[in-house]
Amino acid sequence: MDQYVDFSQPSLYIAAGAVVFNPTFWNTVARLEYRNKTLTKLAGGNALYGCYGLAATIFSLGIIRDAFYERALRDQPSHPALESFLSQSLAVVLVACGNILVLTSMWALGVTGTYLGDYFGILMDEIVTGFPFNVTGSPMYYGSTMSFLGTALWYGKPAGVLLTALVFTVYQIALSFEDPFTAEIYAKRDREQKAKGRKGQ
Ligand SMILES: *[C@@H]1O[C@H](CO)[C@@H](O)[C@H](O)[C@H]1NC(C)=O
Repeated sequence: MDQYVDFSQPSLYIAAGAVVFNPTFWNTVARLEYRNKTLTKLAGGNALYGCYGLAATIFSLGIIRDAFYERALRDQPSHPALESFLSQSLAVVLVACGNILVLTSMWALGVTGTYLGDYFGILMDEIVTGFPFNVTGSPMYYGSTMSFLGTALWYGKPAGVLLTALVFTVYQIALSFEDPFTAEIYAKRDREQKAKGRKGQ
């Protein structure tokens, strides 16, 4: 096993910790906001500024995690099977497609749509269904996972593939929390709008 993944490297566990920490952090904080308006209060009562603050924090945490990931890969052995032309080509395709999914979904959703604005009561007028959302329901998560895998292959590191499996698992768990919660926020708005409509008649 040692020839694939060097489990004695602390950097491996630091990267794994960052991978687990990030979605845990933003889900915890977003729910605090939803229940107690914690971030809105911190932003002086302005939900939009609160959301921008969370966006900047999540974005920065992502950069730090990516740095830990690359650092961890540097400390790991490469494997010849992952250094073939095929593997290198796949790496380029994965990183390119992954970045396209992430960037186009940010473009489609805007800052507040991307960074959990719905927990702040900042809702989209309607659910975005065009590209990249007609390819996958969670382009941000799948795009990010593809970039992790592409990076692992690019450097030819089995440990990167292992960390990518962790990223995938953590995102699946995050989605299992986020998707029903977001759906309920929008369902609640629809119920309230209908109730308002009836009163207005
Ligand atoms: C997604 O939508 C884009 C345009 O918005 C279109 O070009 C593309 O073919 C669609 N893809 C799928 C898989 O439906």
